[in-house]
Amino acid sequence: MCGIIGYAGHRPAVTVILEGLKRLEYRGYDSAGMALIQNRELNVVRAKGKIRELEDKLAFQDPYHATTGIGHTRWATHGLPSEENAHPHPDQEHKLALVHNGIIENHTRLKRELQQLGCSFRSDTDTEVLSHLISQELKRLGDVPLAMSAALQKVEGSYAVALISLNGEGQIWAARHSSPLILGLGQGENFVASDIPAFLPYTREVVFLEDDEIVQITPSSWQVLDGSSLEHRNKEQVHISWDVQSAQKSGYRHFMLKEIMEQPQVVRDCLAGRTDSSRAATLLPELDHLPLPRRLHIVACGTSYHAGLWARNIFQEWAEIPVEVEIASEFRYNRRIIEEGDLILAVSQSGETADTLAGLRQARQLGHRVLGLCNVLGSSIAREADGVVYTQAGPEISVASTKAMCSQMTAMLLLALHWGRMKGVLEESVCRDVLRGLEDLPAILEAELEGMQQTAQRLARKYAWCRSCFFLGRGDHFPLALEGALKLKEISYIHAEGYAAGEMKHGPIALVDPEFPVFALAPDNALQSKLLSNLQEVRTRGGPVICLAPPGLDQDMDDIWEIPAIRDPLNGFLFLSALQLFAYEMAVYLGKDVDQPRNLAKSVTVE
Ligand code: AGP
Repeated sequence: MCGIIGYAGHRPAVTVILEGLKRLEYRGYDSAGMALIQNRELNVVRAKGKIRELEDKLAFQDPYHATTGIGHTRWATHGLPSEENAHPHPDQEHKLALVHNGIIENHTRLKRELQQLGCSFRSDTDTEVLSHLISQELKRLGDVPLAMSAALQKVEGSYAVALISLNGEGQIWAARHSSPLILGLGQGENFVASDIPAFLPYTREVVFLEDDEIVQITPSSWQVLDGSSLEHRNKEQVHISWDVQSAQKSGYRHFMLKEIMEQPQVVRDCLAGRTDSSRAATLLPELDHLPLPRRLHIVACGTSYHAGLWARNIFQEWAEIPVEVEIASEFRYNRRIIEEGDLILAVSQSGETADTLAGLRQARQLGHRVLGLCNVLGSSIAREADGVVYTQAGPEISVASTKAMCSQMTAMLLLALHWGRMKGVLEESVCRDVLRGLEDLPAILEAELEGMQQTAQRLARKYAWCRSCFFLGRGDHFPLALEGALKLKEISYIHAEGYAAGEMKHGPIALVDPEFPVFALAPDNALQSKLLSNLQEVRTRGGPVICLAPPGLDQDMDDIWEIPAIRDPLNGFLFLSALQLFAYEMAVYLGKDVDQPRNLAKSVTVE
């Protein structure tokens, strides 16, 4: 997610904004910029790269004495990292500039309409559409809040925007919908920001903005308006006791927990602008230039590999495309049969994993097409693939990958639906049913995550003693069992193995004893009865069993962890969240370094 800070006060705005952006750096970004008004002129300074590049640029400009301005760190979602795509974005007349965090889903249509009105665009971003849209309305209505209200009501998607305009020196206007925006209230100075750390050293008095509110700040005043009626809204002032570090985690104890809890929004952001359930349609222009794959070779590492394994059956069932899923470090060196019309799908959160990148390069050298599925815009895999679909999960800070897998699963569901419909083998009703399920999923996750964390805390206290643990699943849930084991291993340092439940009697069951708990995934599907009989074999040998299942499982287990019964394969998102939280609470209980586990790096850019 991007970082936003707006300042209106008595200090030099450049310094306050730069320091504020530095406190937002942890969120990850690829460019930065700021806008100030001085001597009735709008000044916009932007730079690709880190904030020091921006500082270098500012050093060569006339010293700014402005005491009002807006700043931004950009995590690219539309448009590669570059100075032109960096925020703030001025309007055509250079009378206003704005910064934005979020995704404007209907930016293509709005851009076309604005171009027909004579607007010329200088960037590839969805954000610049907002600048021109508000500017057009400002010319028509002559008043900033009216113009913002009229413009933002045409926008579909998520936004947190902050704007300065020559129409109101010393004022900052801001608004939000689905992206966070907070006011900081100081003495003779006020702030607006995407995150509390940006202004925490100056004030601990904050006002949390709600969706579709418009706010104005000046050095000595602030007001919150209803985004449609522009009626004044009374807002509660809150005192923040967090330190900067805990504020960077939005109050969560670790980035990993914050990122697990962000998963409902991650699903929304990954779906943003890509579905139309009324027409049972998936909108993936990124695929327009790629032919329907004859066969799919999914290549990835670690958690991304597990996401690919999870999606295999879905591609085969919904799109009737044969799928091979290979660990990238094996794919590179194995004898591979890749034929004309096959497609390599390189799945990577960072887009920089050495083995996955090497696999991509080898496939391309052999003349095969590669599609990247990445989270980081402009990453090596994204740039070198023949096409790329971005997962739009926002920066993932914790080494243990959580929300990235959630976004990869969401994106691959969309790919399977898209290709299934393109191939004419997927019923429209099935596609519509899945899309509706996906649209409902964030609310279900939001309702369940807190309770899941409490259950995970209880189970962690009971099982943190174990030295080894099995994770068992069948079908789509076998890859989730692998992921549950990886999560537990990498952050709690407890040995864990993910296994296909049907394989237990082919050897592993020899390990079962009271010291070796089994964590089983038992969705209510055709394989449940077989899985339950596998579990009874474990229990009769004294192995403790934690069974994750929908309500109503009438079975004798050591622990039954109930989660809502939703349809396959969407229940995979609930099972994944439970596994993530179990591993998280085990590591917390054991006092491990959850976000920076020993021996691990966030992106494995070496072989
Ligand atoms: C998962 O928690 C690990 N951090 C690791 O397995 C990771 O998934 C793997 O290195 C792949 O990273 P990528 O998705 O950035 O390619």
